Amino acid sequence: MFEDAPISSAPGPSPIRGLGAAANLIVYMRNPVKNAGRIFARYGNIASLVRAPIHVASPGPGWGKGPAGTAKGAGVVLVTGADNNREILTQHDRFHMIALPGRLRPVTPPTSREKPIMRMMTGLFQVNGDEHRRHRRLLMPAFHKSRIDGYQAEMARITEEIVSRYRNGETRDVHADMTELTLRVATQTLFGADQGERGTQLARMMQEWLLTMFNPVMMFLRFDVPGTPYRKFLDLTAAIDRETAAIVRDKRVSVQKNGGGSDMLSMLLAAQDDDGTGFDEDDLIGHTGVIFAAGHETSTNALAWTLFLLSQHPHVLRDLEDELAGVLRGGAPSVEDLGKLPLLDAVVKESMRVLPPVPMHPRIVAEDCELGGHSLPAGSELFISIYHMHHDPAVFSEPEAFDPRRWETIKPSVYEYNPFSAGPRMCIGASFAIMEIKTALAILLQRHRLELPARALVDPRVAITMAPAGGLPMLVRGRGHSTRAPGGVRGRVREMVRLGN
Ligand code: HEM
Repeated sequence: MFEDAPISSAPGPSPIRGLGAAANLIVYMRNPVKNAGRIFARYGNIASLVRAPIHVASPGPGWGKGPAGTAKGAGVVLVTGADNNREILTQHDRFHMIALPGRLRPVTPPTSREKPIMRMMTGLFQVNGDEHRRHRRLLMPAFHKSRIDGYQAEMARITEEIVSRYRNGETRDVHADMTELTLRVATQTLFGADQGERGTQLARMMQEWLLTMFNPVMMFLRFDVPGTPYRKFLDLTAAIDRETAAIVRDKRVSVQKNGGGSDMLSMLLAAQDDDGTGFDEDDLIGHTGVIFAAGHETSTNALAWTLFLLSQHPHVLRDLEDELAGVLRGGAPSVEDLGKLPLLDAVVKESMRVLPPVPMHPRIVAEDCELGGHSLPAGSELFISIYHMHHDPAVFSEPEAFDPRRWETIKPSVYEYNPFSAGPRMCIGASFAIMEIKTALAILLQRHRLELPARALVDPRVAITMAPAGGLPMLVRGRGHSTRAPGGVRGRVREMVRLGN
């Protein structure tokens, strides 16, 4: 169909015989981290995964908020390495962010059913160039340190409430609990109310939306007919759009009646450029959806993976408990206290190094260019691997070892260690996330020990974020309980981190 379109000169696996180049993507997606590792080992840090254009809309005029372009795309390229990261992440106008895999953007003028896709995607993830700079400038006050510090007491309150339900001897899905925690924090700080049920419902739809988006059938069959994943994708898009629009509407009414609160949405409604223009309705819905989506699942996974890693490294857990007891004496941490906990800082850093909550992030090449000696035609989709950068033995010795103490002696650059990415598009919620994760861990670890059941199956599932598939059941133990790891962990997590059993 697109035989004459250019593709990258980077080497990579041949198309699967009889199935075509795009089938490589389907095979790859069954285990992105492992498959990308194999490809990097064989072809180097820039490797063509799909050596043919697949159905991709172009960047360029209209790539932001308007109708999608119509060019044909130029294949998919995997990238890792600090030099490549620096090139890509600093040249923001050449390497655009792409929120939806290009295949899912309507290439013809969107139908009325497809229009909400564009509206949902007007948040920070989908704007580029000057438009991105303007949006980011307007959003920054909502993420100012004083604002984030102001949310910390709420983070502690919500954690205390959730942890107070824990009973020694019971088994809990810790991933589900951390999801509840981050959702309640997100709805409280973003919407200004601890809207547990509303937030949970919205998050559930978003989670399903992401999983549907990564359904391989979606790549090739885009028919809005009953029973197809595309129909499900459009139905979910419409439902999320409606719910987010309702939240924005309610907030606007409440601000008009009672004035703005300290929540992020009030800040977004009040945000104005020098010329007095602010966000329009579509922007507000887009930003609200993106901040909500980006802001809870990532932190959930960071918390769950950290609790998993601590359960497998009892000596680190004991040292951390001692540090917490010494500084906090059983109480909840304040913002100042968090600065006095160097081991907690190192544990969180090391956890996000070994098991990054976002292992890969995307870009689309906006204009023909070169990277590391390979040509990249406009329209090439890049999957940049944070995971493989974090596991580069030239930067991190014994990269599969979970060793928080390594942070006492190493100082990697932002292009070598970047769980939040780097450059002008670096995660806007990074300080928020770190504060939330540290606050929650400091409280939880002072109350209980969490133990992974013997022979537990832990399989990371990657769909932009990396979560333990099927949750993370753990046994709640008292603080006096042995910290011995029962061992025998099974599953693909063993491909990523060295466990002592
Ligand atoms: C452990 C938690 C988190 C991790 C690992 C994480 C990671 C990331 C990564 C890797 C990116 C992509 C940057 C790029 O492509 O260059 C990103 C972007 C973003 N994140 Fe986070 N994030 C986390 C928490 C949060 C939170 C709590 C919020 C909001 C409250 C948030 C909001 C955003 C937004 C709005 C963007 C888009 C930034 C832009 O395009 O300018 N994230 N995050």
